Amino acid sequence: MSRNAEALAVIRARAGDAPVRLGLILGSGLGHLAKAVDGVAIPYAELPGFPHASVSGHNPNLHIGLLEGVRVAVFGAREHYYEKGNAAAMRPALEVLQALGAESLILTNAAGSMRPDIPPGDLMLLSDHINYSGLNPLIGEPTDHRFVPMTDAHDPALRAALRASASAEGIDLKEGVYAWYSGPSFETPAEIRMLKGLGADAVGMSTVPEVILARFLGLKVAAISTVTNMAAGMSDEKISHDHTKAMAPLGAAKLERILRHFLNGLR
Ligand code: HPA
Repeated sequence: MSRNAEALAVIRARAGDAPVRLGLILGSGLGHLAKAVDGVAIPYAELPGFPHASVSGHNPNLHIGLLEGVRVAVFGAREHYYEKGNAAAMRPALEVLQALGAESLILTNAAGSMRPDIPPGDLMLLSDHINYSGLNPLIGEPTDHRFVPMTDAHDPALRAALRASASAEGIDLKEGVYAWYSGPSFETPAEIRMLKGLGADAVGMSTVPEVILARFLGLKVAAISTVTNMAAGMSDEKISHDHTKAMAPLGAAKLERILRHFLNGLR
């Protein structure tokens, strides 16, 4: 049995055969959102091919069950490129999500903002992204499917639905361009000035490889950043991973309301 087939068999034995409608990957400090799922939690360690995520503030379990009556698969943690230098680390997990029947994937992350009107605590829906790392999770993929179009990679209809849910909940959901910077060191102020000049509104160390992989697999994608800090050089506040973990929950409560409203609309 292939690695993905083994992971699928474990999931089906624990969570049943009903198809999953949507996947959700949770970013730093957002892991508790997984507790909202009424279903089972399967440790990544029991799922062949799933990452051995090692970043504090993440919860390495796959939660499968109902959220607002919709069957979802919530990934409590991701493996970042900066952990082992593998941009395709989430490929097996996303292939399994697709095999479970999911049509869409919502990604979340913590990010630094380059826009004074998007301060810490705010949420930013990604209108688009800049793959500043130059890395790509599809390098080595032998088929012509590797030439994935990235126009509207952040699905216009999903984004419209998320905007409508935010508005119905009275939540100010900003929108902007996210730049992927490999990390794990944070950016310098000069790098932030450059990224701003290139058209980025926020910066972070994740999400972009997963957007590329998900589009490769034919999943519709949307992503939301929780802004945890102003990017380097833009405020006097010290930037640190502890600060990211402390600030992410500010956005998490709003994110949960948006997602619940959005899922309600899918029933
Ligand atoms: N830069 C990169 N990644 C981040 C930041 C940042 O300022 N904040 C949270 N994740």
